[in-house]
Formats: sequence, structure tokens, C-alpha cells
Amino acid sequence: MRDDKVIIFDTTLRDGEQAAGAAMTLEEKLEIAKQLERLKVDVIEAGFAASSPGDFLAVSTIAKEIRTPTIASLSHASLPAVDKAAEALKEARNPRIHVFLSSSDIHIMHQLRKSREEVMDMAVAAVARAKTYYDDIEFSPMDATRTEPEYLYTLLEAAIDAGATTVNIPDTVGYIIPEEFGQLLVNIQENVPNIAKAIISVHCHNDLGLSVSNSLAAVKYGARQIEGCINGLGERAGNASLEEVIMGLVTREDFFNINLGIDTSQLYRTSRLVSDITGFSVQPNKAIVGQNAFRHASGIHQDGVLKDRSTYEIMSPESVGVPSSTLVLGKLSGRAGLRSRLEELGYDLNQDDLNKAFEDFKNLADKKREITDRDLEALISDRRRVDVELYKLEHVQVSCGDHEIPTATVRLTNPEGVTLTDAATGTGPVDAVYVAINRILGVPNTLKEFSIGSITEGTDSIGDVTIRIESNGRIYTGRGSSTDIMVASAKAYLNALNKLMSIEGTPIQ
Ligand code: KIV
Ligand code: ZN
Repeated sequence: MRDDKVIIFDTTLRDGEQAAGAAMTLEEKLEIAKQLERLKVDVIEAGFAASSPGDFLAVSTIAKEIRTPTIASLSHASLPAVDKAAEALKEARNPRIHVFLSSSDIHIMHQLRKSREEVMDMAVAAVARAKTYYDDIEFSPMDATRTEPEYLYTLLEAAIDAGATTVNIPDTVGYIIPEEFGQLLVNIQENVPNIAKAIISVHCHNDLGLSVSNSLAAVKYGARQIEGCINGLGERAGNASLEEVIMGLVTREDFFNINLGIDTSQLYRTSRLVSDITGFSVQPNKAIVGQNAFRHASGIHQDGVLKDRSTYEIMSPESVGVPSSTLVLGKLSGRAGLRSRLEELGYDLNQDDLNKAFEDFKNLADKKREITDRDLEALISDRRRVDVELYKLEHVQVSCGDHEIPTATVRLTNPEGVTLTDAATGTGPVDAVYVAINRILGVPNTLKEFSIGSITEGTDSIGDVTIRIESNGRIYTGRGSSTDIMVASAKAYLNALNKLMSIEGTPIQ
């Protein structure tokens, strides 16, 4: 008998963004939020409204635009922070304020430098204030799994009395072991007298690689909300990977006996989007969404799968939306073929975007004989980036070779459409391109990481460049793809600089 629903709470845009180097622009967050809505997550934590004007804008924009899931803002346990969260959420159809405050002695003594009583008062006051705005209030005692149990029970009871409708038990430092976590949840249910008035949630970090196991164990012991991030993004080693939690619950429905409202066929697409935007690639052997997750390599396995897929497959690639074919289109393919393949891949493009995609596709088909699903994904991602950029790349020309001084000419257009051109030499062609861009834009930054990969096999493959640059202590990630790796490198650098400028402002020219 299936009688219980588990709420899926996605925090890719908040905890996920806290991963070093995962900062996202407003447009990127909105794009991910739209995809999370297609995935049918129940709650999207859109940011931490009081933490910065950028986060405030992200929460308020997502609250306005995304109508089906609940939209949550994280908030410190302080009245002004709660007020900010409430303001950012005012246009949400289903708003939630998520108040957090450390509860372990380690945090209380060494970080907050307060007494347990003071922490209790702050938590109650913040939850009560949040309740004056909205009904749906979540409370998280941070570092709950290292909190003295009796204190944790009292704090949870007080938060529920003050109006919390969800109480979250964060394993903030990824310390607990599944069996222990299950017991903690049982103890909470036995020792918090008003616990039945709230939903128990868990939020597991992955420092020991146990975040998914802990989340699944928690469901078995009564948790009815799981928090996590797509691709397991998040602070340090990350949060529970939502695609793994979801498919664990779905595939082992016989064991968990619960309901989920998720459209699992959107998981692959969501993972690709998050990876593309953050520049955090998904390891090939990653469960559910890795490139090899459904590939059978050994002869015995292939033989078994050919006879009956269930011999070595516990879930189908289609169930998580992994595209079934890899070879798709070529030079002679038309607009209808492209549209239908994109739809199969989960893209829902309007006419204008389809026209742009078709133009990009035709340009690529002139250079590359066979166009695969991965190529199409790269084209769409590249176009998505270019369309929102402040400065656009118009032209790159490079001359290099073993007897040449690498020289690059770059032409950009600024947001007013004015053309800006410069040329430079460098130690290599990429350096020359980057120096030329620096001469045009004059934005100080430090290059932290540059990596280049190819989307598919073959020398005619699209090159895919990821770079990270640092400015004022913040890391900005840029991506670019093209069959010409100099163009891909220029696009990636400009993409990172555009993000930097959208947050820190543009230079005077
Ligand atoms: O890890 C944590 O404790 C958190 C809280 C803010 C829920 O992210
Ligand atoms: Zn966290």
C-alpha cells in the first residue's frame, strides 16, 4: 500500500551555488528553475535573499516566474533577514521561508559564541516572525547530527510551537552513518511531543560519500522531505545527489512504499543543464546520469542485455531521459527533423529559438558530417549563453605555428552594438586571444583553470572549453564550444567575463 508522499526539495540554486566556482547568473538560475519545474520538484530553494542583492533578485524573480513548485528562501535567524526573505517571496504563489540557526555546541560556542538559551530564543523569534508573513515555514538546526540530542528535541519542539511546518535535520558536515541517522529520526519522533504537526526533512552532505544512503535511510525512518542538489552539487563534497535519491526511491518502490511527484524522464536533461551552466562535468561512471551509466562493456553483460535487458539493467535509460540514439542528423536534415529530435531531447523551443538553432545546426553540418545528440546539446547551450551576453564575440582570427609569433585579432560588440577591435601577440594562440580580449575590455582578473575537451569522438568534433577566472575573491565560470578551439576558447573567456561584469559592473570605455 502506497500511502505517503516524499517531498523533493531542490537546493541547487542555493547550497549548490555555494560550491566553489559554481556561481550562476540570474538568467542561468532562471533557466535551471524552469527545468526543475519540468522535473516537477516540489520545492525550489531559490537563494538566500538577505545574503546579497543578487540573491534577493534571484529569489524574487524565480518567485514571480515559477508558479508550480513552492519557492523557498533561506534566512538567518534574525528578524531583518526574515523580513528580506518575505519581501523577496512576496510574488510567489507558494512561498516558504527557511530559517536556519546552528544548534551543536561546537557551532554555538566556537562560531556563534552564544548560549543554548540565546540560540533557542533567536530561533523561536525568527520562526514566529516568518509565520507572520506565510504559513509554510521550515526550520533547520544547523549541524543537527552533532547536536546534543536533548537540546535538539527541545529546540525542534519550540520551533514547531512557534509555527514551523517542516523541521529539517541537516547533516551539515556529512558526519552521520545511515543506521545512526535512522535511530536519530526515531528518537526525534519519540521525544518531540508535537512532531506530528511538522514534516521531517533531511539535508545530507557528502563528506564521507554517504549523503544519498543517509537520505534514503531517513525515508525509511519517517522523513518525508529530502533536500539535495542536481549532480550532488554543494558545499565541499556536495549535497545528496537528487537524481540518485529519486531513482533510489523509484527503483526500490517495493522497499520504500512511498509516492513521488517527479517526472524522472527529465533527470538527464536537468543534469546536463546544471553541468553545462556550472562547468562541473559529470564523471562518466556517475550513477543515473553519467555517460557510462547505461553502457554495457563486457561481452557477458552485452550478451545478457541483448537477450533480456533486465539481466543487467535495474532501470531503463528512457526512464531517466537518456536519449536513445546518438547518431541523429546530417547536412540534408531539415527543420522538422531538427525540431523533432530536439523535442525528443527535452527541449521545448519557441519559433525564434528554433530558427536560431536551425541556423547553428546548418553551420555545424557544413563542417561536420554527422551530428549527434551531444552536438545538438552543445549548440543549444552555446546559443543560450551567447543570447544573454553583454559583450558578444563577432570575430577571432589567429595566426600561429612553430616559426610564428602567435598573434590574434578579436572583434567584439558592446551592449550598445558598438564594434571594438584589437590585436595582440602571446606565448601561444590562446594567450594571444586572451590578451587581445583584455586589451579591449580591460577587466582585471586571474585565470584559475582552463580545460578543453571534445563533445564527441573524431577530429571534426566540437571543442568544449571551460575556464574559471577570479576577481575580488569570487570565481566566475565560462564555457564555450565550437569546432574551432580558438573560437571556443574566446567564447569561454568572454562568457566568464560577461558574468563577472554582470555582477561587478562593466569597465568605462
Ligand atoms: O548544510 C546545512 O546545514 C545547510 C542549512 C542551511 C540547511 O545548508
Ligand atoms: Zn547544506
